[in-house]
Amino acid sequence: MPLVHMSDLLRHAYREGYAVGAYDLVDSAFLEGILAGAEACQAPVILSLAESHFVHYDFDTLMPAVVGAARRARVPVAIHLDHGGSASSVRHAIRLGCNGVMVDASDKPFQDNVEATREVAAMAHACGVTVEGELGYVPGVEGEDAERHPGAVRLTSVEEARTFIALTGVDCLAVSIGTVHGRMRGAPRLDFGRLAAINRALRLPLVIHGGTGLTDEQYSGLVANGVAKINYYTALSDTAARSIVEQASNGIGPGYTRLTEGVRTAVRAEVERTSRLWGAAGRADAATRSAASWREVEHVILYNVNGPRDEVQWADMVARGREALSGIPGVRRIAAGRTTRPDARFAYCWLMRFAAPETISSFRDHPDHVRYANTAFRPLAPDRISIDFELD
Ligand code: 13P
Repeated sequence: MPLVHMSDLLRHAYREGYAVGAYDLVDSAFLEGILAGAEACQAPVILSLAESHFVHYDFDTLMPAVVGAARRARVPVAIHLDHGGSASSVRHAIRLGCNGVMVDASDKPFQDNVEATREVAAMAHACGVTVEGELGYVPGVEGEDAERHPGAVRLTSVEEARTFIALTGVDCLAVSIGTVHGRMRGAPRLDFGRLAAINRALRLPLVIHGGTGLTDEQYSGLVANGVAKINYYTALSDTAARSIVEQASNGIGPGYTRLTEGVRTAVRAEVERTSRLWGAAGRADAATRSAASWREVEHVILYNVNGPRDEVQWADMVARGREALSGIPGVRRIAAGRTTRPDARFAYCWLMRFAAPETISSFRDHPDHVRYANTAFRPLAPDRISIDFELD
């Protein structure tokens, strides 16, 4: 089953009354465990990578494994940047293969949050990528992830939420109704009246951060009031850690692989349990039918250069192109090459991988592209063709 548009997954869940788990992963054992759990109960799933966790792993190194595993999965999958802190980190995440992004400016005053979110939403939408904003503030209370969310809770206001959606155009909204990041201290108290009012006012998929530690009834209440995505990490971290501690106390070890061999199974069990609890189990086929596959685009340019072949001049033009074009949102990879056959109709090529079809026009019109094409590339390469291939 394919990698799919995250907005389609969320709309399906919202319409059908269940929530998709967005599980933060921190290594390849979590990645495998999350997908195995979703596949075991045929649930759509969101592989989530939180910017606050990048101190634990190298995002650039892990993402090719995430994209590959998502494409091989037997359930519909989206790949999401969680708590993206800036426009440049969102652009980088799209470049690495995320097809959903969160802009987290929830600690800022309302107007600043609107402006930061609107800017990122426009950029991500021009790449076809789903955008989550957050309004209100979900703090951390205890546990390894909690300290990254300092400060006091600020609940989401219905009126502000309405204005926020109109001004930013986000596809889904994370709301603050009493959950916290990390472990709960005491019995959690959630403001369901507020959630219901936000849902009535917005009629768009809502997101809950701080998904760990609620009661079964509370999860049902979330789903019944428009929550279509539940972010979940601390419980996965705790179950993985418990499995390592158990292995160690059973005298199994001392090797690293022996100590950690239960992590996948522990994560898998928790993902399966929660996917069933949130109503996502058994929805994979229906969600796939209602979701568009995520298709990248290969932008191919074949060309000849003016006059006699001058490798130094060509290499300089290519280097300038890489520099000018690789930062344009939605560009995933740029390759340049020359033919192996002296009699080929075209001697040179550019191969550019775009995140999605939407990037074709946003790339074409981007000022960095326009400037480079008009001043460096086109004058040197008047004989050229370009074709965009949507990839299966
Ligand atoms: P928990 O760690 O409380 O499950 O929350 C995870 C989260 O909200 C990530 O964005």
